[in-house]
Amino acid sequence: MILAANLKTNHTRHSVKEYLQAVTVFIQEEAIGAEAVIFPPATALRKGTSAVSIGAQNAYPVKSGSFTGEIGTEQLEEFELNTILIGHSERRHLLGESEAFIRQKFDFFAQQGYRIFFCIGEPIEVKEQGFEAVMAYIQTQLERIDLGYDNLVLAYEPVWAIGTGKTASSEDIAQVHSAIKKLCDKPLLYGGSAKPKNCAEILSIEGVDGLLIGTASWESKGFCDMLQITKTIDKD
Ligand code: PGA
Repeated sequence: MILAANLKTNHTRHSVKEYLQAVTVFIQEEAIGAEAVIFPPATALRKGTSAVSIGAQNAYPVKSGSFTGEIGTEQLEEFELNTILIGHSERRHLLGESEAFIRQKFDFFAQQGYRIFFCIGEPIEVKEQGFEAVMAYIQTQLERIDLGYDNLVLAYEPVWAIGTGKTASSEDIAQVHSAIKKLCDKPLLYGGSAKPKNCAEILSIEGVDGLLIGTASWESKGFCDMLQITKTIDKD
């Protein structure tokens, strides 16, 4: 089981250091078996610990060069990082990343052997058209992505559930996850308003291999509470 904290545009270098330390100690003291990954903002990237790995929320598909405002693998590797989030809905919809550019990023970071957390999920107007429309949309997002890539983790995040407090129903999550699993047998996380109150229910759903958590992970306590709850989930 994987629990990933997406800190987005929150935290500083100092507070990420404290956050990482708190989560590391918690995992060790509580003997948490789930894997923890933290995605801090770019200015607060740092090496992971024996208990927690760190990933980049974003990077440009390049080692180095003239891409003002961006970072490449040279900057990531300074922190010995080889995990990256690609396709997050905020980058697709707020920052305007196209399907073509997302594929270019995927191919580049896959070639470099990075562990890729690849996000997919439908906006509300697609959700309203029903399950088949949702799956057609997701299939387009997965098109021409190497689904056999060894170091791939998928995250299903319905856009309308991200940061809104609205979680997809267990039935919807189960249905979509089982359909995605038929397309790609990689670890599949759910994301979208996952929090301590609902995470036991979500994690118990067949086909859910973990969570990508935004808002509820911004305080280390929230993330640790959810890590603690993973101990109660009994799934083969
Ligand atoms: P949320 O964000 O938990 O605040 O909905 C999830 C995400 O953006 O990955």
